[in-house]
Amino acid sequence: MSALCLLPSTQGLQRTALVFAMAMLSALVPCSALAQSNPSAVTDEVSYSNDIRPIVNNFCTTCHAGRNPQGEFVLTSYQDVRKHTEQGQLLERINDAENPMPENGLMPQYMRRLFRVWAEQGYIEQGSAKRVGERRQMLEYTPPKIEPVNINRQGFELLEYMQGHWVGSMTLMGTKYDWMAFDFRPIAASHIHGLFEGGTIGNLFTSFFVTEFRGQRTIMARNGGMLNGIYRTSYFVLDQVRYGRDWGYYRLVDAYGGADIMYMELTFRGDTLQFSAHTSRFGLTAPKPHMLFEGRRKHPGLASQAAEVFGFPKNVIGIDFSKGLPESAWAEEFPQTSATYIWEANDKNLIELGKLAKDPVRIDQMPYLSQLAIQIQRSPSTQGKKLQVYLSRDSLVDRSGKFITQYGYIREDLLDTLLLFPELGAQETEFNFTYLHPGEYYLTVIADMDADGFPSPGDITHPQQKVTIRPKSKQRLTIRNLNVQN
Ligand code: HEC
Repeated sequence: MSALCLLPSTQGLQRTALVFAMAMLSALVPCSALAQSNPSAVTDEVSYSNDIRPIVNNFCTTCHAGRNPQGEFVLTSYQDVRKHTEQGQLLERINDAENPMPENGLMPQYMRRLFRVWAEQGYIEQGSAKRVGERRQMLEYTPPKIEPVNINRQGFELLEYMQGHWVGSMTLMGTKYDWMAFDFRPIAASHIHGLFEGGTIGNLFTSFFVTEFRGQRTIMARNGGMLNGIYRTSYFVLDQVRYGRDWGYYRLVDAYGGADIMYMELTFRGDTLQFSAHTSRFGLTAPKPHMLFEGRRKHPGLASQAAEVFGFPKNVIGIDFSKGLPESAWAEEFPQTSATYIWEANDKNLIELGKLAKDPVRIDQMPYLSQLAIQIQRSPSTQGKKLQVYLSRDSLVDRSGKFITQYGYIREDLLDTLLLFPELGAQETEFNFTYLHPGEYYLTVIADMDADGFPSPGDITHPQQKVTIRPKSKQRLTIRNLNVQN
């Protein structure tokens, strides 16, 4: 890359934040949207014909029908099902985790709740015709059988391969961005994490860890972030591994709905990584290409330092899911199709949001990672200007705060050491880095005087600022001298 094409590429960097956020939005379905697209939320009419019969036929009549029914009763007519519901044992048993009906485990909460609402509404026998098709389709959603890869046999090396500061380009829903980076480093003996930090709009993290899931020692991923007050985390499980002469391919699918709902694919070839994701809006469409990142491993020292701390990678359990994943909070209202945990609220912190969403792993339970709260005192001339907040391995400025340039712009090899690069709005003065790798960084806050979205002549910076982040710490830092004119 020559200095000339630095311009469009760094522009991409700035626009990435916004577009990334928008793309994330379309990947997830906040509860309000689900309610719209599925008029069959439990709040409206529940009837035997539309709702209860399909469930009973799916889950009960294998045993409670025929000439010798189990428990000596059948559930084959409206009268049968109504009688057992009115008498109470049916509601009791379908909600009894110790002694459930069906015997092999509780049905999704959404379905169980339909029985209660059906009783409350007075046992409607024949429902209105217009919603039958849609509701059937949802009620009959049965998650596929996911077969996790046994990493004692193959696939364990994914953790090893994932290490690196991946610098490259990204295509998001058909639009290409020339510069993007993910900094993947170990955070425990069998857990590795990387993050994109977009600024006030939101962020996106992915971590891979060894786990026990569905009776298999395997690798799972935790992927998600915050976007405009929406907390989302999705869990994926490794279900395919393939090798060629000089490449390795790994597929991770939604840990509940499998590849029909969403999946990510990683292909490693030499020092390159191709990382793509397909999403289906939780099953409302067939999975479609969502993002494709293509990058090259740079600055391997960042990950290998962390690896030494833990003896990474070890085949030991990082997060234990041997008892399965909990039901998500939204499964109370909507049929669960995905191992995704969502909560929407602007006034809650990440720990609270995680609890409300019923996310099994919350930010305070992630090992090793830290937080850094940054306060920026704006000088008069930087009032009303956007701020780029850059954390990089190498300093982008000299001691006095001037950009280290070549042909007028920050040197490309320095810019490539950028690890996190959120952008703050024109009125903002603080930012909280979360999910932050411990280590040494240079922090450069840039007042974007000409609003071109990247560091360029005329922008205002501050004297060189080094930060050392200790593991599991919460640190604060104030930038006072934002007055160095480039
Ligand atoms: C795999 C077979 C099987 C399936 C599937 C099954 N049941 Fe049962 N059910 C039984 C057996 C066996 C009994 C009797 C032993 C017991 O109570 O556990 C029973 C008992 C019951 C009872 C207790 C009746 C009483 O008098 O206490 C209820 C209520 C019930 N089932 C409802 C259901 C419903 C509703 C479904 C579907 C959502 C269902 N069962 C699915 C096998 C099954």
